[in-house]
Amino acid sequence: MNDTSQKTRSTLAYPKFRKHFTEFIGIGANDHLWVDGCDTVELAERYGTPLYVTSESQFRHNYRGFYDAFAKLYPQVQVLFANKCNNSLAVRHIMNQEGAGGDAFGVNEMYFALLTGMDGRKLVLNGSNKDAAEIEMAVRNRVCVNIDAMDELDIIAATAERLGIDAEVGVRLKLDLKPLENRFATELHGPGSLAEQGRDHKWGMPYAQTVELIKKIQKIKRLHPVEVSYHLSRMDNKADDFAVMAREMVQWVAKLRDDTSWTASWIDLGGGWATGRPEKTGPDGADDDSTPSYDEYAEAVCTAIKDECKKLNLKLPGIKIEPGRAVAAKCGILIGRVGAVKEWPERKKKWVNLDASATNHLFPAASQHWYYHAVVANKVSAPLADPVDIVGPLCTPDILASQRAMPKMVRGDLVAFLDAGSYAEPRVSSFNAQLKPATVMVSGGSAFVTTERERLSDVLGRYRVPSHLIEASFGRDTSIG
Ligand SMILES: Cc1ncc(COP(=O)(O)O)c(C=O)c1O
Repeated sequence: MNDTSQKTRSTLAYPKFRKHFTEFIGIGANDHLWVDGCDTVELAERYGTPLYVTSESQFRHNYRGFYDAFAKLYPQVQVLFANKCNNSLAVRHIMNQEGAGGDAFGVNEMYFALLTGMDGRKLVLNGSNKDAAEIEMAVRNRVCVNIDAMDELDIIAATAERLGIDAEVGVRLKLDLKPLENRFATELHGPGSLAEQGRDHKWGMPYAQTVELIKKIQKIKRLHPVEVSYHLSRMDNKADDFAVMAREMVQWVAKLRDDTSWTASWIDLGGGWATGRPEKTGPDGADDDSTPSYDEYAEAVCTAIKDECKKLNLKLPGIKIEPGRAVAAKCGILIGRVGAVKEWPERKKKWVNLDASATNHLFPAASQHWYYHAVVANKVSAPLADPVDIVGPLCTPDILASQRAMPKMVRGDLVAFLDAGSYAEPRVSSFNAQLKPATVMVSGGSAFVTTERERLSDVLGRYRVPSHLIEASFGRDTSIG
């Protein structure tokens, strides 16, 4: 009983490029980088830099690919786009039109999603510290709340009772993941193996607490438990690790059935699904051709769930999946313009300064081991020269790419980083009073501003000066008048 909106999909017009980086991003006949029907050199000229450029059709294409991979193997699938990876209202509209649900983390993400007219029943609310206003918004809009701490239950129960609304809830598990004891992910998520990270991080409730929680919920007329959820502490790129997670979730569901007589209707598998490219991306460039495809993930996970359900005599639950990066990363690029180019020939060092910063593309800022493929957008195929450091304007090392072989660059050239469609714009941080970039979305041959460039007044307008400091700085002479 999969989503019927799949039947009414719009047709996508696929562009032809000299070389494709994705279906909708590639090198045009003029050797410029193109996003769908738009030349990025013209976009940079028209909208300024630093600039994010996203492709509407790539979002649609990727979502469909992800959904279809699972839906062809499994009878009941909901793909909930992880809104956190790209909060753009335009993107959420696209997801709604494609039939996607959503994972909202916190009250504002839920509010944004609801503002686009999405059906709250297709959202889940995640988060480790939900407050009363947030829970009220969820209950009023029929959003399923994934409970992550015992005391959330009282707030949800009181809210549902006060409003006279029945509420669906889930429970976030703290899996053991024993078979992942020696599997390691990226350093971004803290030290230790996937199993250790899962035990150490703040999310999820241990088994005994989930039994207690379900038994309490069973006594509350207005609350209906529907799902168990987990999010694999991510950035890993082995499909089998997700199968391990899925199996343990099924085992947990069976145990809960035996101990509480409640059987979850849905298993929510969270996000963490990687996305790779031949040119490499991700931690140390590990996400390359060997990264699982959507089909490989679906095969591993659906087989594990079916197999485990059969063993444990469980009716197949529906599955919810919350991909962020795997759907959105390849849908966007970040463009910066080259300014000062500095050389130190004796040390064979060269720095190429951009107006874009590492804080505009989250992961280089968080980890210098993070790799995003970069091209010179106005001469993509020019021969490679000696390696350079590509740096941003901040008063930090601000390294976007270290010792990268690139074509020779001069002031005015444009550098584009691929895979900026997820976790770039929503995680931009400000330093040195830099203004946050704009985003344009390309649809065929047209471009639309979907996020305005931050203005100086947006930044300056938040500051206040206490009156005694104003008086001390501009002290008036009170002797006259
Ligand atoms: C609960 C949950 N779901 C989904 C996601 C999306 O993860 P990803 O972008 O790695 O798929 C996250 C990311 O932190 C998450 O915490």
